Order: sequence, then structure tokens, then C-alpha cells
Amino acid sequence: NQNSFGMIGLGTMGSNLLQNIADHGYSCAGYDNSAEKVNALNALDSENIQGFSNLKEFTDSLKSPKIVMMLVPAGEIVDNVIDELLAVLDKGDIIIDGGNSHYTDTERRYLELEGKGLHFVGMGVSGGEEGARRGPSMMPGGDKEAYEAIKPVLEKIAAQVNGEPTVAFMGNRSAGHFVKMVHNGIEYAIMQLISESYEIMKRGLQMENDQIHEVYKKWNQGRLKSYLLEITTDIFAFKNEGEEGLLLDNIRDEAKAKGTGKWTSQGAMDLHLPTPVIDISVSMRDLSSLKNLRVQASKIYPDLTEMHYGKNVNDYCDQLEEAFYFAMVSAYAQGMHLLYQANIEFKYDLKLDLIAKIWRGGCIIRSEFLEDIYAAFNKDPELQHLLLDKTVAGNLIQSIPSARTIVSDAAIHGISTPAFSAALTYFDNFRSESMPTNLIQAQRDYFGSHTYELKAKEGVFHTKWIMENIKQ
Ligand code: 6PG
Repeated sequence: NQNSFGMIGLGTMGSNLLQNIADHGYSCAGYDNSAEKVNALNALDSENIQGFSNLKEFTDSLKSPKIVMMLVPAGEIVDNVIDELLAVLDKGDIIIDGGNSHYTDTERRYLELEGKGLHFVGMGVSGGEEGARRGPSMMPGGDKEAYEAIKPVLEKIAAQVNGEPTVAFMGNRSAGHFVKMVHNGIEYAIMQLISESYEIMKRGLQMENDQIHEVYKKWNQGRLKSYLLEITTDIFAFKNEGEEGLLLDNIRDEAKAKGTGKWTSQGAMDLHLPTPVIDISVSMRDLSSLKNLRVQASKIYPDLTEMHYGKNVNDYCDQLEEAFYFAMVSAYAQGMHLLYQANIEFKYDLKLDLIAKIWRGGCIIRSEFLEDIYAAFNKDPELQHLLLDKTVAGNLIQSIPSARTIVSDAAIHGISTPAFSAALTYFDNFRSESMPTNLIQAQRDYFGSHTYELKAKEGVFHTKWIMENIKQ
């Protein structure tokens, strides 16, 4: 038994991550119940990697305390693998779940395994296939003692930003998977914003694909620099050999989802913490899948407005850049706020600056702006909301007029920009000392005696809203 690291699940992510670990000099063992995948791993012919089709032989090949990471689809499969592992691992061994597990599952598994004397680390891994191979961003949480044992490996295989690895211990129990879930919620929001900017350029400004490519390329050279804009720029240049036009134009417009965005919104609502830009991004993927209904409706409600904006393309795209900045800041701010609240509720012991720090490289939402988020929470670890940071606010204020222009022009021309709009309406309420929700309180009390509170007097009140008291 000489192997230092074991991986269960030899799909692309598992195999790539294992190769990354082996590249750093660790002897690795891989296990999968598919013989084909085990053969593919052995065919790599790496002196540091050994593939196994037998679980016992796999775990027997590991040094103690044994480190076993799972990269298998979230859900029941994780529980099944853990059950099998219980028969072959010993007290003190370490199990890492590197998949996109729901944080409540991780919470349960952590407590169960702790009771059995096994260390459990729920770890978010971001960066896709390429990230796994060359350097992901990793969000481990759970057992601090176990983290110390796996830290040297993780720090070596992570992406590096300014010489520092994009991995750190996130916090207690399910903290790692909660942080990864919020990462994905932000990922959904930014992807939705990019797709809305595409719609404005394509239908509103009637720009050609190569012009849109140039705009994204330019944005990606400035403060919007990010992985998601980088790949979008590539997508606007990609043609399949022998095919006319961009591959993009041949792709169906029904967006799929594996659920992590939805979980973010569900988790946020459970905590009464508003994340509307993320919520609407989840809903728009779902709406996109109602293709049949959309086709029917498009016949009843054809475009009633002239979609062409008739604007100077260059000037307008500069405004669009500002509006994008505005909405992107809002998406990150809402995600960070959710982390702030979850930290209180679940006693995770999260450090928001550390989260921003490890998101700066390796992961899907890595971006220039994460430097500002990091700086804000680093300067003030008690900061409740990113929009209250003076530097962030100073930049955001400049972009407000453009956000209003983009959202209102789109509405007038019948172009849908729900995420931009949600960012703006969230902002307009967030910055407002008073909201019209006193009326909602009055209505609730009227029809259901739900009581209300008064501005000038402590306590909870109920009124009989009978007609005699109402002046007609
Ligand atoms: C990452 C990604 C990844 C996620 C995909 C697909 O950080 O590497 O978030 O974990 O699984 O982005 O997500 P959807 O299928 O839900 O779009």
C-alpha cells in the first residue's frame, strides 16, 4: 500500500483531476465500476497512476490514513459509494466528496461519518474539465483536521493567482458545498446577463456576429475581464469545418440545468435573502425550454414594436458595457450577501474575503472584479453587503444612468432583459429608505389580522378595518 491519493469516479472530471495530482508527483489510484473507464486510465500509462476495478484492492493500495475522493454524480450515488466505502475504510480515513452535492446532503453525511469516526470533506470543485486538469478552484469544508492532511496536495493542484493557490478551508460541515452552490448561482446570473447583452446587440442593434465578437473581446480587455466573457468571445468566432456561419447559430435555444442555480435560489428564499438576479436566471432557463408554447405564442403576439434601436452602435455598446458592469456587480453582491446570511444561520465560520480570493482563479466565475470584492471584504470583514463598500459604490454610481438606458430601451423595443432589470429594481429598492411595503402590511392585517408595526410606537398592532372607519 503505497498510493497517496485515491479517486472514485473516473469520468472526465475524476480522471483529469487524478492526472493533475499525479503530475505533481503523487502516486494515485483510481476506481470506477466501469471497466472501460479503468482501462482508459491505465492506458494513460502514467507511472504515478494505477486503475482498479475492485474497490477493496483500490483502498488496500492506499497509505493510511487513506484519502479517497469521490467525483460521482450528486445524489443517491454518493450515498451508495459511501456505504461501500464504510466496509473497506478504517477509522481516521478521509472521504472527500468533490461533486456538486446539495449542502443539506453534505450536512447529513458529515454528521453520520463523524459518528463513525471517519473524516468527511465536502468540497466544491470549479473550473470544468480543463480546470480539473490544469488547476481548479476548490472549496473544501467540513473537517478541519482532515483538510490539514489534504492541504499540501490541494494547494499544489489548484490554480495559482499571484503565487497563491485558489483553495482554502471554507468552514464547518457543509460550508464548502454551500459556497460552491452560490458560486454556481452567480455563474447562472452572469451567463444570463451575457445572453441578454447578446440579444440587445443582435436584435436591438442588429449587429453581425463578427461585430459582437469584437465587443466581447474589447470588454474582456477591461474591467469586465472574466473567464465567461473570454469563452463567449471564442464562441463568437467558432465555426465548424465545412459549415456555414457560426456553430452558435445552429444551437437550439433551450437551456438545460443540473440544478445548482435553482438550489441557490431555493436556499436564498429559505433564508429570506433576496437574490433576484440569480432567481430570474434560473427562471429564464426554464422559460427557454417551453419552446412549444413559445412558438405558439409567437404567432398570437408577433413583435409589436420595431426592434431596431437605430442607435450609433459604438456609443451604445459603451453604455451596454456600463450596464453590464452594474448588473454584474449586483449579481456578485447578491451572492455574497447570501453567503453572509448563511454564515450567521448555519454557523459556518466563512471568511468572505477568502472566498473572493480563491474565486479569482481556476473557477468559472473568475474575473477582474473579484479583486474588488476581495479588497472590500478584506478591508472590512464585518461588511454586510458589497454595495455598502465605498470603492464599489463609487464605481457603481457611474454606471447607473447607462443601466437605466439599457433597461428602458429594451422594454420599449420589446426585447427581454430580465436580469438587467432585476439588477436595477433590486438596486432601486435597496438604496431606498422607504418602500411601499407599508401597504402590504395594511392589506395583510385587513384580510387576515396578521398585525403590523408602527413607525412611532413599539409593539404589534391590529385594526378592525371596518367600513365605518373608512372615508369613502
Ligand atoms: C463549475 C461549474 C460546474 C457545473 C456546470 C454545469 O464550477 O465548474 O459550475 O460545476 O456543473 O457549470 O451546470 P449546469 O448544468 O447547471 O448549467
